[in-house]
Amino acid sequence: MKINDNFLKIESSYLFSTVAKKQRAYQAAHPEADVIRLSIGDVTRPLAPAVIDAMHKAVDEMACEATFRGYPPEYGYDFILEAIQKNDYTDRGIDIAKDEIFLSDGAKSDCGNIGDIFSVDNKVAICDPVYPVYIDTNIMAGRSGDKDENGLWSNIIYMPCTAENNFTPDLPSEVPDVIYLCFPNNPTGMVATKEQLKKWVDYALEHKSLILFDSAYESFVVEEGIPKSIYEIEGAKKCAIELRSFSKTAGFTGMRCGYTVVPKELEFEGTSLNPLWARRQATKFNGVSYITQRAAEAIYSEEGKKQIKETLAYYQNNAKIIFEGLKDAGFECYGGVNSPYVWLRVPQGYTSWEFFDELLEKCQVVGTPGSGFGPAGEGYFRLTAFGSTEKTIEAIERIKSVYKK
Ligand code: MLT
Repeated sequence: MKINDNFLKIESSYLFSTVAKKQRAYQAAHPEADVIRLSIGDVTRPLAPAVIDAMHKAVDEMACEATFRGYPPEYGYDFILEAIQKNDYTDRGIDIAKDEIFLSDGAKSDCGNIGDIFSVDNKVAICDPVYPVYIDTNIMAGRSGDKDENGLWSNIIYMPCTAENNFTPDLPSEVPDVIYLCFPNNPTGMVATKEQLKKWVDYALEHKSLILFDSAYESFVVEEGIPKSIYEIEGAKKCAIELRSFSKTAGFTGMRCGYTVVPKELEFEGTSLNPLWARRQATKFNGVSYITQRAAEAIYSEEGKKQIKETLAYYQNNAKIIFEGLKDAGFECYGGVNSPYVWLRVPQGYTSWEFFDELLEKCQVVGTPGSGFGPAGEGYFRLTAFGSTEKTIEAIERIKSVYKK
C-alpha cells in the first residue's frame, strides 16, 4: 500500500488545533489563569428559540412511526432548499434554481471537497493571508507543488492582501484555473465592493477561470453597496460557485449545516459542473439530518430572522469593542465593521507568534497569529468577536493595561 504522500508535505497540525494546543498547555501550567479565547471563530451565544422549537418538533416526529424519517434526500429536503432559494436569492433579486442548491454539513467540508470535481492539474490562486482550508486541501490533493524557504508553494498563485492594497487582492498576472475568494474576508475582516467583485467576474469570464466564492460571513455586512452574494454580479453564474454557512449566521458551528450553489450554466470544456457536484455528493455524502434541516429552516421564519439579527448585533457590538479598544491602545486595526474579525498589526519587532505568546503570557488572551493564515499574514494578528461581551471587554481592558502608551 502506498500512502498519499501529499500528506507528508503539509504542516502536521491544522492552525486552530495548534492554537488550541498552546492554550491548553498554558492553562495546564497556570491552572489559576482566567484565559479568554478570542482565537477560532466559534460562536458562544445559544441557538435562537425558533431553532430550538423546530428541533423539538422534529425530534417528536422522529419518535413516531407515521412521521419518522430515514435517509434524507442527498441534496436537502424541498422545504429547506425552497427557504434558501427564496430568502437568500429570489427576495434579493437573484435567480437561483432549487436544484442548483446543495445542502451540506458546512462550508468547510464543501470548500475542501469541491476540489474532487477538478483536475489536479489546475492552477489555483489564493489570497495571502487566507482561510487555511483552501490551501491545505489543495496540498492534500496534489495541486500545491513544493514549499520554498519563504513558506510559499511552488504551484500556487499567491495574491497578497496587505494594508498597502487595502487587503483586496490585485488580479494575478499569471492566469489561474481556480480562484478562491472570501468576502467579508477571513481573516482580515475586510470586504469587496460590487465594482471590485465585478472586476473578478469579468476576469474569470475572460480567462475561463472558476471562482470559488466563500460568503460564510455575509450576514455581518452592514454597509450599503457591499455584495452578500457573488451572484449579485452579472455573469457570475457562468464562472462562480458560492459556499454558504449557517455557522456564523445562526450559531450553527456545532449543528453543522451550510450549502453550496453550483449554477447549471457553469460550464467548463462543454461540461456543466452542477451534475458533477450532484454525483460527488450523492456518492460521498448522505445528507444533513432531518432535525438539523428543520433547525435551518427555522432561521428563515419571521421569528427566527428577528432572533438571529439580535445575536448578530451582539457580536457586531463585540467587534466594535475590540476595534475601538485596540485603536485606543495604539494598535493599527482593520476589519470589524462588516465582519466578526478584527485584524491588527502586531507591535514592531514582534512576529505574529511572538505576539501570540506574549498576549497569552501577559494578558491571558488567546488570538490567532496572522502568519498562520499565510506568509503575508506575518506581522498581523486576528481577534474574533464571537466571545461573550463581558469577556471581550475584559480582554480588551487587559490588552490596554499592557500595551497602551
Ligand atoms: C475561523 O476561525 O477562521 C473559522 O471559525 C474556522 C472555520 O470556520 O472553520
